[in-house]
Amino acid sequence: MENTPERTERKKRLFSAIQPSGEMTLGNYLGAIRNWVAMQDEFDCIYATANMHTITVRQDPKAFRANTNKLYALLLACGVDRSKCLLFHQSLVPAHTELGWVVSTFTQFGELSRMTQFKDKSQSHADNINCGLFAYPSLMAADILLYQADAVPVGADQKQHLELTRNIAERFNGIYGKTFIVPEPYIPKLGARVMSLADPTKKMSKSDENTRAFILVTDPPATIMKKFRSAVTDSESCVCRGENKQGINNLMDIYSAVTGKTDEEIVAEFAGKGYGDFKTAVGEAVIAVLEPIQRRYTELCADMGYIESCAREDAAKAAALAERTMQKVYKKVGLVR
Ligand code: TYM
Repeated sequence: MENTPERTERKKRLFSAIQPSGEMTLGNYLGAIRNWVAMQDEFDCIYATANMHTITVRQDPKAFRANTNKLYALLLACGVDRSKCLLFHQSLVPAHTELGWVVSTFTQFGELSRMTQFKDKSQSHADNINCGLFAYPSLMAADILLYQADAVPVGADQKQHLELTRNIAERFNGIYGKTFIVPEPYIPKLGARVMSLADPTKKMSKSDENTRAFILVTDPPATIMKKFRSAVTDSESCVCRGENKQGINNLMDIYSAVTGKTDEEIVAEFAGKGYGDFKTAVGEAVIAVLEPIQRRYTELCADMGYIESCAREDAAKAAALAERTMQKVYKKVGLVR
C-alpha cells in the first residue's frame, strides 16, 4: 500500500460508507458492516452514511431523514464504536461534494458509462436517469480520497467503483505529484456477495420489490425464519455445492459466514437430511447473530436526538481531517480557497 510521508508512523486508515436507501440487509452486514467492526482496533476508521448518494434516486424527504438517523443507530448497534472511529452523515461534511466536483473533472465519460451499477440502476429507474446517478462513482471516489484512506472494506459489488477510484487517484497524482493515497479494496472471503433468497442469480438488495428476497438486520426472528424457509433452491435434496445450485450455494455461504463452518463440515452435518432442516439451521444461526443487534438497536432508537448529535460531533472531526486534503487539492489545481 502507498503512503504519504506524514502517514508512515500512523495506523493505516480505512474509509467506508453505506447508503440510507432502505434498511440494512444481511448482505450489507456480512459483506461490509461486520468488517467495519472487526477492523476498528487495528485501523484508524472513518465511516459514514452515504446520504448524498441516496438522492440519486428520488426519496420521500421525511422518511429519508428518519432512515438516515435510524441507520446510524443500527450501525452503532452492530458494534461500530465511536471511541475507536468516526461515524457521521456524508451531508454534514461539505468537503465530500466539493472534492466530488473536482474529482468529476478527472473522471471520463467513458469510464462512468462502463459502470455496471449505473447500467442496472438506469434500467430500474428509467424515468429518472439523472446526472448524479451517472457521476455517483466520482463522488464515491471523493469520499475515499478525501480522507487519504489506505483501504476500503466493501462487498464484491463495489469492486468496480474501487478500481475507478484507484485510476482517478493515480491520474491526479500523475499530473500534480503525489496528492492522494491509492486505496485498496478490502473484500471479505466469506459473505462478499450474498444473493437474493427469491432469485439466487441476483445479489440481495434492500431495494428489491420482493420483500422475501432479502433479510433485514431488523427483521423479527419469525420473519427471518419464514424468509429462509421460502428461499428458492433446486429439485435435488443434497446439501452440497453445485453449478446449478445457486440457492443452496448461497445458503451455504450465509451459513458458513455466520457459523465459521467449512463446506466439508456443512455437508457432513446435513448428510441424509433434507433442505427443510438446512434452511431451519441457517435461519437459527442468522437469528442468533442478529438478535443481540436488534436489542441494542431498540435501546438506541429511544433517543434519536442523541443519535443525530453523535453524527454532528463526528462530522466536525471528519471535516477537520478533510480540510487538509482540500487545501492540498485546491492549491494543486489552482483554485482559490
Ligand atoms: P450500499 O449502501 O449499496 O452497500 C453498503 C455495503 O454493503 C455491501 N453490500 C453487499 N455485500 C454482500 N452482499 C450483498 N448482497 C451486498 N449488498 C451490499 C456493499 O458492497 C457495501 O460495502 N456506493 C456504496 C456506498 C458508498 C461507499 C463510499 C462505500 C458511498 N461512498 C465510499 C465505500 C466507500 C453503496 O451504495 O453501498
